[in-house]
Amino acid sequence: MKELQDLKEISHNIYKAVYNNKEILLTKSSYPPYYGERKFDNLREWIPSRSKLSAVLLKGYNLKFRGDEKLLYLGAASGTTVSHISDILDKGIIYAVEYSAKPFSKFLELSKMRKNIIPIFADASKPENYSGIVEKVDFIYQDIAQKNQIDIFIKNSNFFLKENGEGIIMVKARSIDSTEDPEVVFNEVLKELRKRFKVLAFNTLEPFHSDHIFVHVKVLK
Ligand SMILES: C[S@@+](CC[C@H](N)C(=O)[O-])C[C@H]1O[C@@H](n2cnc3c(N)ncnc32)[C@H](O)[C@@H]1O
Repeated sequence: MKELQDLKEISHNIYKAVYNNKEILLTKSSYPPYYGERKFDNLREWIPSRSKLSAVLLKGYNLKFRGDEKLLYLGAASGTTVSHISDILDKGIIYAVEYSAKPFSKFLELSKMRKNIIPIFADASKPENYSGIVEKVDFIYQDIAQKNQIDIFIKNSNFFLKENGEGIIMVKARSIDSTEDPEVVFNEVLKELRKRFKVLAFNTLEPFHSDHIFVHVKVLK
């Protein structure tokens, strides 16, 4: 196998490198591959077409993690992205909510292998149902393609986000309104979020995912 070139750590346990003349993203991991990604010694490739968070970072936007954060993840599916966040927050904890039985059963297998993942089988629009399990968190990550995705984020942040907490929302325009111009939907979403949060950044996920933007927010003081 070829060597990785120009390897650099961009945030705690997150690396960029060049492989076959292409920039790739990796997380430091003592675990085996989980979804068909390549492993280079102790680094697991983080594939941007499979994970929107990888797309955000590969596009050049950085998130500075310390590694000991508490994070609430809404829309875990089978855990592709959670597996990388679990590598990154090696001294932290991830509460991960998913309500669809099929991906959740695969996700449970991942959670059994990892010490820092708490899997929660629940509807993220009803945070009161898991408020006895989840503590206050530093970060909320949401990837839920639902019409009421912004309400879900706000509800969960009211329950669980610390005073200086931050969040990332992957917003899918077509799920909110399939007939409206995505630009109009995204502007409405940003307007709604600005009532409660400082918007630190937003951008499309092109060329890796179409019809989406990510929004990085911080609780308003
Ligand atoms: C796009 S997939 C998430 C992919 C995942 N974040 C990743 O990167 O590996 C969206 C997931 O959100 C879940 N979901 C949608 N609405 C939900 C809700 N109200 N509560 C919990 N999970 C929900 C779906 O079942 C689906 O698995």
